[in-house]
Amino acid sequence: MTIEQGGTPFQVPRHVAVIMDGNGRWASARRLPRIEGHRRGIEAVRATVKGCGEAGVEALTLFAFSSENWRRPAGEVRSLMGLFRFLLERELDGLRRNGVSLRVIGDRSGLGEDLASHIDAAERATRDGDRMTLTIAANYGGRWDLARVSRELAREVAAGRLDPEAIDETTLRSRLALADLPEPDLFIRTGGEQRVSNFLMWQLAYTELYFTPTLWPDFDQEALQEAFWSYSKRQRRFGRTGEQVHASPGG
Ligand code: IPE
Ligand code: IPE
Ligand code: MG
Repeated sequence: MTIEQGGTPFQVPRHVAVIMDGNGRWASARRLPRIEGHRRGIEAVRATVKGCGEAGVEALTLFAFSSENWRRPAGEVRSLMGLFRFLLERELDGLRRNGVSLRVIGDRSGLGEDLASHIDAAERATRDGDRMTLTIAANYGGRWDLARVSRELAREVAAGRLDPEAIDETTLRSRLALADLPEPDLFIRTGGEQRVSNFLMWQLAYTELYFTPTLWPDFDQEALQEAFWSYSKRQRRFGRTGEQVHASPGG
């Protein structure tokens, strides 16, 4: 989709994936407990959901808790889970009103029964949203997803239901998380670190990467526009030459 900004045509990403990083440092800089940074991060989540919806982004995927974040102090993990549960309840109406369908990817079994049932309920309640798909990655890791799919395929081969020779990139892609969405066009990581931290290992193969030092609680609509602007100036070549892309941008 192309929108106009100041008379300039503006290419909007279909799918945006975000590592929301820097909450702890935002809080420490203010001598506040880390959880206060996570709390303030909710504002940035709202701004990003709203900004993406208004720009016509079809899918937004947010990394909320990684497979590795269990290594944090137990108190912080507990607070993060509490915050997630609180959000699932409180934001539901707004998401529904705005046509957003919510999904959660990651190992749900590790989140505990109570949270898992809240997730199920939120997914059911927003199922009909057709303006934007909001995916929250919780207890998610790109490697976990790949291992899970490998196990699933191995089971089918062992049961004689799948020919190993038939396994190709399409097979894998169709089993991984987010299979029904276009691959992310734009990856945003706030907080200044320039790494993927086990986010969408497979899906990011051709995604445009954008890193900003802005800490997540400070990430607002203006910061999002800046990321869109950076994206709109990129030439995506997918292995071809720049001249080829210039001659036939869609092909
Ligand atoms: C991101 O902020 C939120 C989660 C990982 C849950 P951090 O908590 O990682 O913030 P920093 O990186 O310590 O500043
Ligand atoms: C990545 O942030 C995970 C989330 C934002 C949920 P981290 O803060 O956990 O990443 P590292 O540990 O700095 O790589
Ligand atoms: Mg961090």
